[in-house]
Amino acid sequence: MKRDIISVLDMKNDFEKFVDDGIKLKKNFKTGKKDSSMDRKTLAMIFEKASTRTRVSFETAMTQLGGHAIYLSPRDMQMGRGETIADTGEVLSGMVDAILYRAFKHDNVVELAQNSSISVINGLDNLEHPTQIVADYMTIKEKKGKLKGLKIAYVGDGNNTANSLMLGAGLVGADFWIATPEGYEPPDHFVKAARSLARKHRSELEVTNNYKEAVAGADVIYTDVWVSMGEEQEREKKEKEFKSFQINEKMVSLAKRDYIFMHCLPAHRGLEVTNEVADSKNSVIFQEAENRLHAEKIILKKVIK
Ligand code: CP
Repeated sequence: MKRDIISVLDMKNDFEKFVDDGIKLKKNFKTGKKDSSMDRKTLAMIFEKASTRTRVSFETAMTQLGGHAIYLSPRDMQMGRGETIADTGEVLSGMVDAILYRAFKHDNVVELAQNSSISVINGLDNLEHPTQIVADYMTIKEKKGKLKGLKIAYVGDGNNTANSLMLGAGLVGADFWIATPEGYEPPDHFVKAARSLARKHRSELEVTNNYKEAVAGADVIYTDVWVSMGEEQEREKKEKEFKSFQINEKMVSLAKRDYIFMHCLPAHRGLEVTNEVADSKNSVIFQEAENRLHAEKIILKKVIK
């Protein structure tokens, strides 16, 4: 049976195994161990939106594992000229081994998966960013040696990355605090799902508009851009409303001394984070980005057999 990764919840039974296996695979790669598990396998990658990390990490992961990746932009494929998502799924299922899809709409990722006999991986949509979150928890575990019991403070927009990170916290038993300006909290159904996972692990989940409360004593401070792709018309309004949620030296002074700063990138320096924090010794943003490569490898190995 195929395995789609559309939500972090598609890894709910083995999420921490993805994290641990990703860390192991990274170590093996760094010591020069060969892995050709994607030999003669092909990944089709449909990107409706721009990408640096997701595209390069999946394409490189396929190359390093002995396989091949094809970059497809709707501008250059028939899907952009009216071919249905369903027909595209059927056609690609007859030719390649899995599909990575970065879409504006979550429903489109679901529709592609429903019409493909091969695995579909969500490369970010309006609701979730599951592949990012594997790399994020790998980074936290590498730096802190554990996940359960840590306090993760997400400060900023209750967006796709926040939703996935919150579900991930519920799965690993980390305490998760999300601080957003009023009106930008994560959707209720994500909070409900994450809360139910947190209850099982006896961990905390708090949604607040008070960033000081969220960051106080945090082990991890995480932020993302204030204006997601597709929301450009809201830029001016959001930049005003989010101003006091900037991660700066004053804010991080409330966290533990050995806190780590994370950002899925790209960062808009001077807006959601200052250079002083992004380039500080506590910042792990580039290790986090590098971990995308190893996270993608473990995801590919688990979905392409
Ligand atoms: N973090 C992330 O998904 O980066 P890209 O948009 O560059 O892929």
